[in-house]
Amino acid sequence: MDAIAPYAVIDRSTGKIDRRIFSDQSIYDQEMKKIFGRAWLMIGHESLVPAVDDYFHTYMGEDPVILTRDSHGKLHALLNMCRHRGNRVVRCDDGNAKRFMCAYHGWTFRNDGALEHVPGLSEAYYNALDTTSMGLIEARLETYAGLIFATWAEDAPSLEAYLGDARWYLDTVFNRRDGGTLALGPVKWLEPANWKTMVDNCSDNYHVPTSHLSSAAVQSRFLGRPRLSHADQFHSPSKHAFVNGHSITFRDADDNMPRYMHGVSTETMKLFEAYHRDTMAEVEHRLGKLRARQVQLANHSLFPNGVLGFRLALPRGPLKTEFWHFVLLDRDAPEELKRVIRIGSQANNGAAGMFEQDDVDNWRQVTEASMSQTARRYPQDLSMGVGHAGPHPDYPGIVSERYISENNQRLFYQRWEQFMNAESWADIPLDPITARFDGTATMQG
Ligand code: FES
Ligand SMILES: [Fe+2]
Repeated sequence: MDAIAPYAVIDRSTGKIDRRIFSDQSIYDQEMKKIFGRAWLMIGHESLVPAVDDYFHTYMGEDPVILTRDSHGKLHALLNMCRHRGNRVVRCDDGNAKRFMCAYHGWTFRNDGALEHVPGLSEAYYNALDTTSMGLIEARLETYAGLIFATWAEDAPSLEAYLGDARWYLDTVFNRRDGGTLALGPVKWLEPANWKTMVDNCSDNYHVPTSHLSSAAVQSRFLGRPRLSHADQFHSPSKHAFVNGHSITFRDADDNMPRYMHGVSTETMKLFEAYHRDTMAEVEHRLGKLRARQVQLANHSLFPNGVLGFRLALPRGPLKTEFWHFVLLDRDAPEELKRVIRIGSQANNGAAGMFEQDDVDNWRQVTEASMSQTARRYPQDLSMGVGHAGPHPDYPGIVSERYISENNQRLFYQRWEQFMNAESWADIPLDPITARFDGTATMQG
C-alpha cells in the first residue's frame, strides 16, 4: 500500500517537503514502478558500442540491461534476464558477442534479443516451447546526439518531446560539434544516500560557496580558478530554467568566452580559448549565434536520474545509490584538450574528486535525517525564491530571477509527484516545444 496516497509531498507555496520520500521503502518500491518503469532513462552512449556486435552492460533503475549493437548495426536495450528461470545472460561490463548463452541451462539468445537455441527443444520440450515469444525483453530505445535513452513504457512520448525545450540548453554541450561526442568511463562507486538527494543537488547553486569553500580555495590557489562567494553568486547573471522535470542551470554571458569546464586553469586557459575561437564558426552554424556565443549550460539534471552531463544516479534501495561517472568529450577536440578535461573531471567529480567528496557528505546527511521519526515531523524547507520564477522573453522553460533559488528543487519534486500519481503517461503533462532551435543541430546530432 502507498505510504502517501495520493502523493502530496511538497507544498507549492511554502516549499515544505515530506522527508519520508528519502528513506521509506514502500515509496521507493513505487518509484521503481512509476518513475523508473516509465520515464526515458539515459543508459549509454553510441561510442560505448561503436562496432557491430558490441555490447555494454547498463541499468534502467535497478534492472540490469544489455545495450547491444546487433549484426546490422541496430541498437537494442535488452533486459538481462534469461526468459527461462531468470539468470543474467551477460556477466561482463562490456564486450563483443553475436549471442549470449545463459550459464544455467544453456538457452542462447542473439544480440537482437531473439531466443536462438534451447538445449533439448525436440527431445525434452517435444517442440512445444514457443521460442519466438521467449526472446529477451526489449525496451524502447531512442538517441539524442549520441546519448542513448530507453524506456519500459509503450505509451511514453517520443524522446524529443520528453526532453522538450531542455534540449535548447543541452545542445550547447551535447550537440556542439559536427563530429559529435565521445564517452569515457564509467568510474563507478556506491554512495550511502537516496538517489534524489544528488539529483536535486545538481542545480543547487546555493551550497557551492559553503560546501565547496575549501576545495575551491585549493583550486583558486593552484589552478587560478575564480574565488567563490555568496555575494558573487547572488548577483550572478546566470540562471535556472526548468522544463518537463529537467533542471537546467546556465550562464548567460555576452562576452563570448569559453564556458567554464573542468580542466580550466591559468596554465590551460589558452587551450580552451583557442578551441573556442577555432570552432566558433562551426558551432554558430550548428546552434545559431545566441546559443553558440552566449548560453553556457552549467549544472543540470535530466529527469529522473541523469546528472551533470553524462553521469547516472542509479538507485540501489532507498538508502543507497550507485553512481556512474563518465567524461564526455567533443570527439574532434585536440588530444591535449581532451586529456586536460579528462583529468579535471576526475579531480572534481570522480570517485576521489574534491567537489564530489564535499557533496556526498551532504547527500548522506539529508538521507539520514529523513529516517528519524522525530525529524519526519519537521519537513525539509525548499522555500527560497517562491514566486520569483516564470516565463522569460529570451529563454525557454520556467526561468528563475536569480542563479540562487530553490525553484528547480521545488519543481523537481512536483514532477516526482506527477509521475507517482499518474496511472499512465496520459496523466503526465508535457510542456509544448516552443523554443526556436536555430542552426543545423538536430536530435540525431
Ligand atoms: S535459467 Fe537460463 S537456461 Fe535456464
Ligand atoms: Fe556540490
